[in-house]
Formats: sequence, C-alpha cells, structure tokens
Amino acid sequence: MKNVSILPIRRNLKFNLNPERALDWHQDGLNVAQFLNTMSLFFPVGERFFIDSVRHYRSEITDEELKKAVTAFIGQEAMHGREHDEYNQYVADAGVPIAAQEEVVTKLLNFVQRVAPERFQLAATVALEHLTAILGGGLLDLPEIMDGSEEGYKAIWNWHALEETEHKAVAFDVYQVAVGKDSEILPYIERSAALVLATGIFFSLFLPFYAYNVAIHGGLTDWKGWKAVWKHTWQKKGIFRNITKPWFDWFKPGFHPWDHDNREKLEMFAEILGERLDEAA
Ligand SMILES: [Fe+2]
Ligand SMILES: [Fe+2]
Repeated sequence: MKNVSILPIRRNLKFNLNPERALDWHQDGLNVAQFLNTMSLFFPVGERFFIDSVRHYRSEITDEELKKAVTAFIGQEAMHGREHDEYNQYVADAGVPIAAQEEVVTKLLNFVQRVAPERFQLAATVALEHLTAILGGGLLDLPEIMDGSEEGYKAIWNWHALEETEHKAVAFDVYQVAVGKDSEILPYIERSAALVLATGIFFSLFLPFYAYNVAIHGGLTDWKGWKAVWKHTWQKKGIFRNITKPWFDWFKPGFHPWDHDNREKLEMFAEILGERLDEAA
C-alpha cells in the first residue's frame, strides 16, 4: 500500500441541473454533450456494482484507516449514483433512450454478479476505478474542456472527477488485502486482464449508444460537432490522448493509483465547487 493516506469524504451535494439544457449544456453543442451524457448513463448501475464488489470484502479489512475509507468510498459512489440518476432522467426526458441503454448495462452487470467469482468482480471494479480515476484526473488537468459550459453540468462533472480522484486507491487497497499483491503474480495477472476486458466491454457498449444518441437529434452529419469531439478527445488537449500513458501504467508490476500523485487537485474542491460545498449536509 502506498504511503499516501487520503481519507475520502462523503459530500451530499445537489447540482440543480437545468433540465432544459440536457442536450446543449456543453459550449460546443450536442455532439460533445451527448458524449458525456452517454457516459453518465453508465454511472448509477456501474457504481452500484462497485459498491457491492467492495462491500463483499469489507469484513476482511482490519486496517482502521482502510475501513473508514471503504465507508467513505461507498458513500461517495452512492451520492454519484443519486445525482447521475437525476441527470440521466433529464436526458431521458429530452428524448434519449437512456432507460433501454441502462437496461443493457444492468443485465450485463447482473450476469457478471451471477456467474463470476467475487474476486473477479473486485478485479473488474478496481480496473474500472482506474479508468474513472484517469478520466477524472484528465478532466481536472484539462479544465478548458468544460470552459463556458452550463454551470450545473460543469459542476457535477468536476465534483465527480474530484471524488474519483480522492477515492481512486480505495478499491485497489481492498484488492491488495483481499485478493493479493502483484508479487503473488495471479492478482497481477487478474487485475491486468480485467482492465483490458473492462475497457473493451465499456467502449463496445458506449460507442454504439453514443452514436445512436447523437443520431436521434441530427448530430451525425454535424462536422463542426465532430471536430469539437475530436479536439476534446484525441487532439493535444484531448482527454483520451492525455490518459493513454496513465492507462498503460496500470500494467507496471507494483503499480499503485497514487503513483499518479495528483493530490494537489483535491485542493481545488473549494475553488471549483464554491458555495455548493457550503450547502453540503
Ligand atoms: Fe463515482
Ligand atoms: Fe469511483
């Protein structure tokens, strides 16, 4: 376990999203907004899966700090699920078939819970937590992606990115205790395979959903919109380009999420979320 002890905090925040802006809240229009909206539909069900996977091993944790971190992790993911459920409802109300797409994800995760061993479910969780941590970290590194967008939507994404950063090592530390460290080889092979598998499965669902969600509102031939998507994903200041190396770092034996030490981003909480933090219960 790396010697970076950050105890996540469960923050009960509300974002008062403007339902009217569900499809055009991003400064660069529909194609970028639907990219993030489509990503959002995976969170509530995905995060419930993460919670279940980690909770299963809770009783095996003896370290008091890690126990507290697990409780906070569960609290944070539950809050993300609640807020993204509301967000997704606004996107659904705007005519996007979120419920049907979410159903596909739910069925897949239920299937995994039914047939896969618990340790595989935890491996999938730590792999997906790596993906959310580097995506969140990427978003915090590239604030220009959100510049000029509608405040509520911008805030929910920044909040989620910050908390994914804050708790990025929790499931991983549980994995090291419950399943094993890289030195035991098999846990290393499993977590490595899990990232390849999880990334592949995630994008094989995300991409068709995303293309469909853009198409139904006429964005398929919006070249300006696609140019903006390209700019924010693969160009110099694009998120995928910036997280490619951190994605591969996962495969270094002995890797730990805090090897990407971006603790300083957590100091931006107050700056980014301002008065919303004061309203937190
Ligand atoms: Fe989350
Ligand atoms: Fe997470």
